[in-house]
Amino acid sequence: MASRPNFANETVWTGDCLNVLRGMNSACIDLIYLDPPFNSNRTYEAPIGSQAAGASFKDAWTLDDVDVHEHGELADRNPAAYSVIEAARQAHGKGMQSYLIFMAVRLTEMQRILKPSGSIYLHCDPTASHYLKLLMDGIFGTRSFQNEIIWSYRRWPSKQPRFQRMHDVLLFYGHRQKQFNVHYEPPSESYLKRFKGKTQVLDPETKSRKLVVDKPTKGMPWRDVWEMPVIPGSAKERTGYPTQKPLALLDRIIRASSNEGDWVFDPFCGCATALVAADRLKRKWAGVDLSPLAVKLVDARIATDRGQLPWGGAITPDGPPKRDDLGDLPNYRTHRHRLYGEQEGVCAGCDTHFPFRVMDVDHILPRAKGGTDHPDNLQLLCSGCNRSKGAKTMAEWRAAQ
Ligand SMILES: C[S@@+](CC[C@H](N)C(=O)[O-])C[C@H]1O[C@@H](n2cnc3c(N)ncnc32)[C@H](O)[C@@H]1O
Repeated sequence: MASRPNFANETVWTGDCLNVLRGMNSACIDLIYLDPPFNSNRTYEAPIGSQAAGASFKDAWTLDDVDVHEHGELADRNPAAYSVIEAARQAHGKGMQSYLIFMAVRLTEMQRILKPSGSIYLHCDPTASHYLKLLMDGIFGTRSFQNEIIWSYRRWPSKQPRFQRMHDVLLFYGHRQKQFNVHYEPPSESYLKRFKGKTQVLDPETKSRKLVVDKPTKGMPWRDVWEMPVIPGSAKERTGYPTQKPLALLDRIIRASSNEGDWVFDPFCGCATALVAADRLKRKWAGVDLSPLAVKLVDARIATDRGQLPWGGAITPDGPPKRDDLGDLPNYRTHRHRLYGEQEGVCAGCDTHFPFRVMDVDHILPRAKGGTDHPDNLQLLCSGCNRSKGAKTMAEWRAAQ
């Protein structure tokens, strides 16, 4: 069931999208577009003098870049995604493992905030698209997979001895009830010539023969290969933001998978291309980026775009939203994931590795003896050790062994 968003239209947060995602109500977004770092092993910087000067982000990964508790959280909440990441670590190494942990934890939250009628487009490239598709299958379900869209473009060729790498990948997932508007691209010249601009339909009797009916053709429904130029250096829309995507690309996604008044969310919004496109199409929108420059660019781009129309600037809350679709949150048990990651799955009592499901959070100093729910007073024990420890302190329990 869809719920009400707990934030205002036209909001942009500065910070890690994970914190924002965790604070968002469940099932409140119609369309998510994300264009996260691709694990390209590079650091991106905007050119000095461009509208985006000062913007930069690192896209190279080590296990230090992910919070230990994210690892534990995945082991519990999504064993399928956890297995994919383990396989990627063996095939590709720890850099890919760290990147996929980063992505999986955030994608799990995105799955939660998407309405049952919602859609998600994950923009990536062949560096990690094959692993990301497995992750998406694990998180959103194979039945939600709709398309692998190829965005094909031309750019300066490289000298590498292989075919030129000139495409990005968009993984599109949505449930059966998802919103989808069919649009058409113009028919090819050969079609126009051959059928004189008329429509070809399937013969209702034979279901195999095609008939030409006397109706002008609408063209060809959009395919999953999109031939679309990258933003030329001289284009008005270019801000200089590294990895900026063309408005035409976002326009197509938003038109296909949402209607006026729907909510569009971009958790890695960069220079806000998705938000600007959503604004043009009269969708409600919100976004997040680590870089404080994102807010400035959203404000500048939308002000230019709206021209004379009123625009007071994006709403920029100080911190992440607070969910109001839950009752009281559970207290100490919410530390289970972090502890599993920190202890690397090993019980603090018997030093043995256990699956997440048999681990319990234990108060080192029991509450009956004045112990608190403070994280420093918590540890994970396997259920056997936990039962045996009961209301003893750790020291009392060890002495009794
Ligand atoms: C590929 S760019 C997005 C470009 C954007 N689609 C556009 O057209 O401008 C990725 C963005 O993700 C941001 N980013 C990286 N890690 C993030 C995180 N944990 N939370 C939010 N934003 C993050 C970077 O600052 C960068 O702006």
